[in-house]
Amino acid sequence: MKGMVFTELLGFVEHTYGADAVDDLIEASDLPSGGAYTAVGTYDHKEMQSLVANLSAQSNTPPNELLDLFGQHLIGRFKASFPDFFKTAATLFDFLESIDSHIHVEVRKLYPDAELPEFRAERLGTGAMHLDYRSNRPFAALASGLILGAAQLYGETVLIERSAHEHDGEKFVRFSIQKTDAIA
Ligand code: HEM
Repeated sequence: MKGMVFTELLGFVEHTYGADAVDDLIEASDLPSGGAYTAVGTYDHKEMQSLVANLSAQSNTPPNELLDLFGQHLIGRFKASFPDFFKTAATLFDFLESIDSHIHVEVRKLYPDAELPEFRAERLGTGAMHLDYRSNRPFAALASGLILGAAQLYGETVLIERSAHEHDGEKFVRFSIQKTDAIA
């Protein structure tokens, strides 16, 4: 996993729990990298899991809730660093459709060693979408927070439900996203 995700996680911890919490977390996590991340470096994604597990113990918050909150924070950071991805897409659903076809494609050009998940978007009428997440890594809760945070950035309110699926031996997580102003 790219270093920028780790540096952003530590930024999120500092912002939410204070600078001491960052030091405590790195000390408790016993990281092969030692926790000195650079944005362009690449680190084992298991370090992210250990950081989140230890932060969960420190903050008494379930790991998936932390990943979700981190995703909501991270999307704002992405908007600051990559504003064009948000300008190109007029609505939340346009944006979510562009992850696989455009955003992560550009990310791969910047970071050829990025380990990116795969997303398949399907619109269900005007107010709902299925977004299927396929990854060998367990970051569906992070995706959920990124989706929710993106909705907020677009000024749209949505309900997001998550379900686990398997098709022809391939596992994926489906996000069923419903615009709440579209619920009659
Ligand atoms: C401006 C928008 C975005 C940018 C710049 C961006 C960039 C990135 C980068 C740099 C990584 C790390 C790759 C690695 O660790 O090697 C990543 C991973 C990831 N991205 Fe995006 N992303 C964006 C939007 C989104 C959105 C909206 C979602 C959710 C639907 C998403 C879901 C994920 C997930 C879940 C991962 C973790 C890796 C995995 O599951 O395998 N991204 N993205």
